[in-house]
Amino acid sequence: MDVPRRHIPGVPGVVTDGVAAGARILAAGGLVAFPTETVYGLGADARNPDAVARIFAAKGRPTDHPLICHIASVDDLAPLVAEVTPAARALADAFWPGPLTLVMTRSAAVPDAVTGGRDTVAVRVPDHPVALALLRAFGGPVAAPSANRFGRPSPTRADDVRDELGDGVDLVLDGGPCAIGVESTVLDLVSDPPQVLRPGGISADDIARVMNAPVSATSSGPARAPGMLEAHYAPGARVEVVSADAAAARAADLTAAGTSVALLAPHAISPLPDSVLVLGPAGAPDAYAALLYAAFRRADAARCQVILAVPPPARGIGVAVRDRLARAAASA
Ligand code: TXA
Ligand code: MG
Repeated sequence: MDVPRRHIPGVPGVVTDGVAAGARILAAGGLVAFPTETVYGLGADARNPDAVARIFAAKGRPTDHPLICHIASVDDLAPLVAEVTPAARALADAFWPGPLTLVMTRSAAVPDAVTGGRDTVAVRVPDHPVALALLRAFGGPVAAPSANRFGRPSPTRADDVRDELGDGVDLVLDGGPCAIGVESTVLDLVSDPPQVLRPGGISADDIARVMNAPVSATSSGPARAPGMLEAHYAPGARVEVVSADAAAARAADLTAAGTSVALLAPHAISPLPDSVLVLGPAGAPDAYAALLYAAFRRADAARCQVILAVPPPARGIGVAVRDRLARAAASA
């Protein structure tokens, strides 16, 4: 594995053994941003309520919104939950490390600060060498939401974390761009049947196959998970979801009205006014997911007022991308 780079705000170019430094900072109650296969997380020692409180302060996030506990392997699950159920074991064997978060009945070891006082805890094993090295070096559960300010798009590159949180984080571990690009699937294993609270890289069908039982897949509608608001993941620009057929005409209308427009679509759209910032074509759902949040940030950097988004097809991770686009659009 490449030695991760340590970035200290205001001291460019400083490189040390970032993982060891990160583990020390976590043990001391500090905040470490780290890459995962989905998005960058903002981590703290999950057993230290004061450290966890710093996460909420850095993000500007309401403290009743629960966090995900990241662990190095399924062997670290038992202390956090009341019982490692057969379903949890089967799903962990099938999908961990990977973009599946399991919501289970918690043990007394998990502080209220992590769960927002709920009797459940969300847990996952991230599939990224830097995240796993950090978790192993630290030797305990790391509570981490996405490393963005509350309501904003999740960061998929280390520079995005610095832009979002600046000095609010003690260390940013740079693992390059995130391969998946949208947040993990959140599966509530306490409800019967189990329910997908947030679509992500593992589909409800994938889960149902492993469980050999029905799974309820809710991919749109009002807030379902605590802290999972209808309006979320939003860039500064207003996001408008449009069909491929309507995109060119809408871009022309907005441009004629003096509005600066960016366009994100799976395929090339034409004709387009010259002034439109084309953020793609984004390609197949996987590629679209990997591009999504960086495209939002590009549009903001170019000071676009509107992002026209043609959604990918609702297959595979396309379901998650459509969910995030709808939530970003709901923030307008
Ligand atoms: O991919 C990801 O999941 C990223 C990376 C960093 O792991 N993390 C992430 O965390 O997206 P966050 O905090 O932005 O989203 C956590 C989601 C929220 O929708 C929250 O409501 C849900 O997990 N969640 C956490 N604990 C829960 C619980 N006890 N019951 C139900 N939902 C829970
Ligand atoms: Mg988040």
